Amino acid sequence: MIPEERAFPADFVWGTATAAYQIEGAAHEDGRSESIWDRFAAIPGKVRNGETGLIADDHYHRYASDIALLRDLGVGVYRFSVAWPRILPDGRGAVNERGLDFYDRLVDELLRAGIEPYVTLYHWDLPQVLEDAGGWPNRDTTEAFTDYAGVVARRLGDRVKNWITHNEPWCASWLGYGWGVHAPGRTNPADALAAAHHLLLSHGQAVPVIRGEVPGARVGITLNLEHKYPATNRPEDVAAARLEDGVSNRWFLDPIFLGTYPDDVAESFAGWAELPDVRDGDLETISAPIDFLGINNYSRAVVKADPKGMPARVRQDESEYTSMGWEVAPDGLHDLLLRVHHDYRPAALYVTENGAAFEDVRTHDGAVNDPERQAFLERYIGAVGRAAADGAPIKGYFVWSFLDNFEWAEGYAKRFGLVYVDYPTLQRIPKKSYYWYRQFIARQPGHPQAEAVA
Ligand code: FCB
Repeated sequence: MIPEERAFPADFVWGTATAAYQIEGAAHEDGRSESIWDRFAAIPGKVRNGETGLIADDHYHRYASDIALLRDLGVGVYRFSVAWPRILPDGRGAVNERGLDFYDRLVDELLRAGIEPYVTLYHWDLPQVLEDAGGWPNRDTTEAFTDYAGVVARRLGDRVKNWITHNEPWCASWLGYGWGVHAPGRTNPADALAAAHHLLLSHGQAVPVIRGEVPGARVGITLNLEHKYPATNRPEDVAAARLEDGVSNRWFLDPIFLGTYPDDVAESFAGWAELPDVRDGDLETISAPIDFLGINNYSRAVVKADPKGMPARVRQDESEYTSMGWEVAPDGLHDLLLRVHHDYRPAALYVTENGAAFEDVRTHDGAVNDPERQAFLERYIGAVGRAAADGAPIKGYFVWSFLDNFEWAEGYAKRFGLVYVDYPTLQRIPKKSYYWYRQFIARQPGHPQAEAVA
């Protein structure tokens, strides 16, 4: 029982989230071209155990029975992403109708189940041909994205009203182009900064295009944000936490909401990484008004200054950690939602991802017992409720994830799903947390079963 659940208004939406490359499989079907994740995962040593998204959850073929599971879960909304290489195999230009047909079927099936789709246009699977032409550090990619956004919006916009341009541009730029741990695996900070700028620019360019194609569209972007706490109140630790917040949070929030890049962070990059080529008008484009901000949040960071004054994370020995090594810290989400509300005043906020990987245990009867996940969700949802009660305009919450799936560089080892996937057979087994979430949703105000259950 979550004491704060009364804080959720009747129109608050409850859902789950996934991403195309992580669940679809069918990598060579119906005209889909290679993505940067196909290329990257095929390089030995890049993904744990050499795993790839070639088959993944085979959701491409099993979407109808998967949606039946979502319907039984009782969610009102579902966030999924569209695979760009299915729609425009050459990155731009010729449209592959068979790719669009898949998302048509998916959307129709969701609507038949009474579930409202939230579509993410870019969840990291850039067509490899565009990477070959320079990828996100190349400004031309922003034009290709804008065309792609228009094609998808035109086809699905009669039924899809909620649009998320990008998922986590920090991860796409820094993990992919700066640290090399995600596709395409480059390790150049200047490329990361150029990629980040172009991801943001392409977001801003796509906003009016989507609005033009979709009457009544609600358009937003999803950022991965994390509240940063100084380990002590020593000035150097406070400064380190502020810089860490600047690099991962403000560098994305400021241009979107304030139309500027934070000077203090730009200064910290100078001398270390070439700053992006920001042209006249770019920041106006990036700061186009949006209808909502999506926040993906899993943890918090406690930060101290290392001997060189750079931010370093401090492990919290008294805390619980998930099997990703992420601290369970629900207050971090509460504080983050309020901070974003106070500093940026977004029209609406959604938690577009929150959840946890744990070592799920299958019992002798085949059931999957995951009490840690249930406890995690109860605490985090409670924190969201407190943030709503404290005034944050939070309108919905999506559990990451609906299904166990391909967790990027971690392969299939990390299971985030409410539904267990037995990879050898691809059988779906709802975990205990699925049944818990179902009961929780059914008790919420506005839910058809709420009165009956109360
Ligand atoms: C986020 C990603 C999502 C998933 C979760 C665990 O960074 O958006 O695809 O991998 O982390």
